[in-house]
Amino acid sequence: MTVDALAGAAYIVAALLFILSLAGLSRHESARAGVVYGISGMAIALVATVALTVADAWTTGAFLGLGLLVAAVVIGAAIGLWRARSVEMTGMPELIALLHSFVGLAAVLVGWNGYLAHPEIAPALFGIHNAEVFIGVFIGGVTFTGSIVAYLKLSAKMSSKPLMLPGKNVLNIGALVAFVVLTVWFVNDQQLGLLVGVTVLAFALGWHLVASIGGGDMPVVVSMLNSYSGWAAAAAGFLLNNDLLIVTGALVGSSGAYLSYVMCTAMNRSFLSVIAGGFGIVAPSGSDEEYGEHREITAEGAAEMLTAAKTVVITPGYGMAVAQAQYPVADLVRRLRERGVDVRFGIHPVAGRLPGHMNVLLAEAKVPYDIVLSMDEINDDLAATSVVLVIGANDTVNPAAAEDPSSPIAGMPVLKVWEAENVIVFKRSMAAGYAGVQNPLFFRDNASMLFGDAKQKVEDIIAAL
Ligand code: TAP
Repeated sequence: MTVDALAGAAYIVAALLFILSLAGLSRHESARAGVVYGISGMAIALVATVALTVADAWTTGAFLGLGLLVAAVVIGAAIGLWRARSVEMTGMPELIALLHSFVGLAAVLVGWNGYLAHPEIAPALFGIHNAEVFIGVFIGGVTFTGSIVAYLKLSAKMSSKPLMLPGKNVLNIGALVAFVVLTVWFVNDQQLGLLVGVTVLAFALGWHLVASIGGGDMPVVVSMLNSYSGWAAAAAGFLLNNDLLIVTGALVGSSGAYLSYVMCTAMNRSFLSVIAGGFGIVAPSGSDEEYGEHREITAEGAAEMLTAAKTVVITPGYGMAVAQAQYPVADLVRRLRERGVDVRFGIHPVAGRLPGHMNVLLAEAKVPYDIVLSMDEINDDLAATSVVLVIGANDTVNPAAAEDPSSPIAGMPVLKVWEAENVIVFKRSMAAGYAGVQNPLFFRDNASMLFGDAKQKVEDIIAAL
C-alpha cells in the first residue's frame, strides 16, 4: 500500500474520531472520552501528515518542506505547551480567540500560496480554484482580525464598548457586496491587485464586525469566530486538496454555528441582532438610592440560615471562577447533604466567561453531575427553595432582565433566584457584572450580601458550620 493510500485511510479514521469527540463532549459523563477521541484523532492526523511530507521528501529529494514542517511543529508545540500550562481558566476565552486568529491567518496564507504558486490545474477547474483562493482569503481575513479584536476586548486591552460608526450595517453589507463583485472579477481575471483588495477588505470587515459588538455579546462572538475559523480551515482544505481539513473544518464550522445559535437562544437574542451590535453598551446604571438599602450577612449568619434550610440551590458565576471557590463549594455541598439538606446547582448557559465554564469547574471539584442542573431545569423550583447561594454571579441572576424592558439586558432569560425564600449573594462589592448593569436583586427584602472573596467566605461558612 502506498503512503498516500495509508494517509487517506488514517484521515478517515481521524475524521471519525473527531465526530465521536464532538458527540462525547456534548455530555458530562462522556466528556472525558470525547477529549481522548479528539486527542487520538489529532495524533493520527499529524502522523499521517508528517508521513506524507517525509515520503514526498524521499521521492523528490526536496527536504526543505520537511525541515519547515519540523521547525513549525517544534515551535508550535513549545508555545502551545507553555500557554496551556500557564493560562488561567478565566483567561481561556481570550486564548481561544487568539488561537482562532491563527487559523484565520493560516487560511489567508494558504490562499495567497494557492495564487502565487501557480499550481497545475485542469482548465475546467481553473475558475473553481480561483474562487477557492478568493473565498479562503476572505473568510480567513475576517476570522483573523475579528479574533484579534475579540482577544483585545476579552483581555481588556481594548474597551469592550461597541464601536458605533455611522451606518455600520450599511458598511458591513457594502463589504459583502464588494466581496461578491470582486470574486466574480477575480475568477475572470486573476490580477494581484484584486487579491490585495479582498485581503484588505476582509481584514477591515473582521475588525469592524467585532469592534461594533458590545461586551455582553462577546460569548456569542467567540463561538461565531470559532465557526468562521472552521469554514476558513475547510476553505484551506479545498485549496490544499486535503480531505481531512475539509471535514474537520466543516465540523468546527457547523458546531460553532450551532453553539452560537444555542447561546443566542440562551440570551434571547437573534443572531442578526448580535451582528448588528448594540447589546452590552454600558447603560447608565441606576444609583444605589433608586433601589433602597442593601442588607449584609456574616458567614456565621449564612451558616445558621443554611443549617435551618430544607432545600438549597447554588447559582455560581464568573466570581466563583475568579476566586477558585469550587473546591470549598464542593466541600460545603457535601457537608450540607450529610446533614440531610437537599442541595442542587442551577447553571446559566452563559455564566462565567466561556460555554460550560461552571460545569468544568464543578466537575474539577468532583461535584456529582446529577445535582448540577441547567437554568431551564431549576428555574421552576426556585420559588420553593429555602436558600439560594449566588456565588460570584451577577448578570445571570439579574431580575431587571425579566422585569425592566428598558434594561440593556431585557429579555435575556435569567435564573429567578429572587423568588426563593432567602438569597445570599457572595461578591466583593456592589459593583456591576460583565454587562455593566446594576442589579436590583441586591436590594430585595429577601436578599443579603456576603461581601468578600467567594473562596474565603465559603471557607468561613464551613468553619462556622
Ligand atoms: P458577571 O455578571 O460577570 O458577575 C460576576 C460577579 O462576580 C461580579 O459582579 C463580581 O463582583 C463578582 N466577583 C468577581 N470576583 C470575585 C471574587 N473573587 N469573589 C466573589 N465575587 C467575585 O457573572 P455571571 O453572572 O457569571 O455572568 C456572566 C456574564 O459574562 C454575562 O453577562 C455573560 O454574557 C458574559 N460572558 C459570558 C461568556 C460565556 S460564554 N459564559 C463569555 C463572555 C462573557 P465584585 O467585583 O463586586 O466582587
